[in-house]
Amino acid sequence: MKILVIGSGGREHALVWKLRQSPRVSAVYCAPGNAGTAEIATNVPLPISDHHGLIEFARAERIGLIVVGPDDALAAGIVDHLGHAGLRVFGPTQSAARLESSKVFAKEFMQRHGIPTAASGHFSDPAEAHRFCQKSKFPLVIKADGLALGKGVIIAQTPWEAAQAINEIMEKRAFGAAGDQVVIEEFLSGQECSVHALVDGENYVLFPAAQDHKQIFEGDKGPNTGGMGTFSPPDKLVTPEIIERIHKEIMVPFMEGIKKDGLHYKGLLFPGLMITEEGPKVLEFNCRFGDPETQVLLPRLKGDLVDWIEAAVAGRLDLVEADWDPRPACCVVMASGGYPGSYTKGKVITGIEEAEALGDVTVFHAGTHQEEGALVTAGGRVLGVTAMGGTLAEAQARAYEAVSRIHFEGATFRRDIGAKGL
Ligand code: AMP
Ligand code: GLY
Repeated sequence: MKILVIGSGGREHALVWKLRQSPRVSAVYCAPGNAGTAEIATNVPLPISDHHGLIEFARAERIGLIVVGPDDALAAGIVDHLGHAGLRVFGPTQSAARLESSKVFAKEFMQRHGIPTAASGHFSDPAEAHRFCQKSKFPLVIKADGLALGKGVIIAQTPWEAAQAINEIMEKRAFGAAGDQVVIEEFLSGQECSVHALVDGENYVLFPAAQDHKQIFEGDKGPNTGGMGTFSPPDKLVTPEIIERIHKEIMVPFMEGIKKDGLHYKGLLFPGLMITEEGPKVLEFNCRFGDPETQVLLPRLKGDLVDWIEAAVAGRLDLVEADWDPRPACCVVMASGGYPGSYTKGKVITGIEEAEALGDVTVFHAGTHQEEGALVTAGGRVLGVTAMGGTLAEAQARAYEAVSRIHFEGATFRRDIGAKGL
């Protein structure tokens, strides 16, 4: 079978890397892909928004399965369009993906089905939003309603900061149409974790948990990014008791909720959770694999991902047997200097082979490009350096040893990925 992966980040490189290990796969394509996917698959120079071009390509190449990476593609209805063209696509429909693309929709879903989350209100009138803040206890969390690359969330410590945030989102339109509505919610304290589950509409399979590091600086300081590194499993935080509660309090009501609402959710569901003193609460639903969570989860998956995805598409996840490598994995993201602000591209990258020569190390590309025979930087997050080890400490030490062998001008990374788990 031929498979097409849609997207161009580290998550997509990890998906391509895992899918091509399947003995059932004859070829993997990636649209548009990056320099890393080009080494192990065939890149297809089509933007993810070109649904017509993707349909023509998939028909001409007789692609048997299409796996969609990014949230904006799902929100744009790629699964509906390619599905209507008779192609087999893994991912939720546009209407189901509103669980990620609209925070208001997600909040109402959780409230309707009793899924624990922060208490909140939502407003399309800025004056009402301001009035709500005046009556509330601080800190408060102010969120633009739509997709905003993880940046449309502002934690306001004071009424003045809340007023600024509402103005930025609703009046100045800092996040475009995502500012039509705001969600204002209670601040939750605790540690965050990422949960992934394959969902087929009737059944689900839960992956081991992972922990992301969203802020750019060590000690979780500075602005949020797409994610600066991950490790799995975060055993100290996500104990067997917490896993039990995630099943009972989040996944079971989620499955009942999609059925009651007729949402036909098929695909990957990734709830971002806060583990609070009262237990796990959902901060957001993501309707796709996490980035860089995928870069630590797929190296730990022992089975064939193609079997799993096909089972999800066919509604037969009840037949899947989970099999995970018990060894922990740690992924350190190397980013361009200046990220998540402005940065320059085109810096030559060296040392990837030397890093992988350590063994149990895989370097996943994100923003990379081949230019006149040289590998150069082409984005904010450049590489995800994943290592496995007998213990988390070993995986972490190996990941940092690998990072030390890789060079590009201005390379930025956090030195504390995994430290929370030790
Ligand atoms: P979201 O896109 O809704 O997941 O929010 C992005 C990030 O903002 C989360 O990963 C958290 O770090 C933070 N955040 C969001 N909602 C809350 C909340 N209610 N309490 C505390 N932190 C939050
Ligand atoms: N790493 C967080 C995300 O993919 O949303």
